[in-house]
Amino acid sequence: MRKKYWQFIFGFSASVLPLPSAEIDISKLPPVSAAAPDFARDIYPIFKENCISCHGPEKQKGKYRIDTREGAFKAGSEGSNIIPGHSEKSPLIHMVAGLIEDGLMPPPKADPLTKEQIGQLRAWIDAGAIWPEGPIPEFVRKVDFKKQIEPIFEKSCFECHGPTKQAGSFRLDQKADALKGGKSYGKVIQPGNAAKSSFLIIVSGKDEDLPLPEKHKLPPKEVELVKKWIEQGAEWP
Ligand code: HEC
Ligand code: HEC
Repeated sequence: MRKKYWQFIFGFSASVLPLPSAEIDISKLPPVSAAAPDFARDIYPIFKENCISCHGPEKQKGKYRIDTREGAFKAGSEGSNIIPGHSEKSPLIHMVAGLIEDGLMPPPKADPLTKEQIGQLRAWIDAGAIWPEGPIPEFVRKVDFKKQIEPIFEKSCFECHGPTKQAGSFRLDQKADALKGGKSYGKVIQPGNAAKSSFLIIVSGKDEDLPLPEKHKLPPKEVELVKKWIEQGAEWP
């Protein structure tokens, strides 16, 4: 980012140089979310899913890590990245909101954080950025079938396994049929047991006996989500 230039010229950490605030238009920040976020449930999972691959135990891009409390609050090239009580002044928020030129986090190839996620991070920082001592309890977010899984099936599978057509007598738009399976593969979804669910092999594009392999292949992110849903019991409300 821009600070590199100063580091180059003066050879000291740029953290002593305040950001020219005129450059950052905080009116463009997504609003602070109204609900008070819980660190383990709402905040840490955002870091875990979007940041830790580059700012965690393996890589510390920009010498920054956000998997530990010490790392997250350590001053970096923009000064302190998190300023408790002031999300609007926190460089981390400016970065995730894309307000710093060439400083969007995560970088452009990854999916940006949503306005809601930024709103939650802001609410957490405004409330003092509390990061409890000790290990962070793992919070497993329940996959929402209606919101996250059904749309995948609808977009990629209903054409041949839906209301009008049931290739291989497999129908994926109704719970009972979907859990029963098709004519040659039988039960492909084993709720609670991803390892035994051949459904996952099929949608990973690894089943070489199935016709139309490209039609059966889902993007890795969607396969992960379907896997999580099956592991959590393949609930189908
Ligand atoms: C694909 C890798 C990648 C991901 C994912 C990523 N970053 Fe970064 N981040 C970088 C790189 C590279 C830099 C260093 C940029 C530079 O110095 O020009 C950086 C720098 C930063 C810095 C500045 C560190 C400092 O003090 O100089 C912060 C803060 C930061 N990232 C936060 C985040 C957050 C928060 C997320 C998740 C929402 C995230 N990053 C996701 C690659 C990544
Ligand atoms: C363009 C059509 C098409 C699309 C789209 C499609 N399939 Fe298929 N599917 C087939 C055909 C054809 C067969 C093989 C039927 C047979 O053997 O008679 C099949 C077979 C299957 C079977 C095995 C059924 C059995 O015989 O037991 C499963 C499971 C399956 N598909 C799942 C999916 C899933 C999940 C998706 C979405 C990611 C999907 N399919 C998308 C055409 C399609």
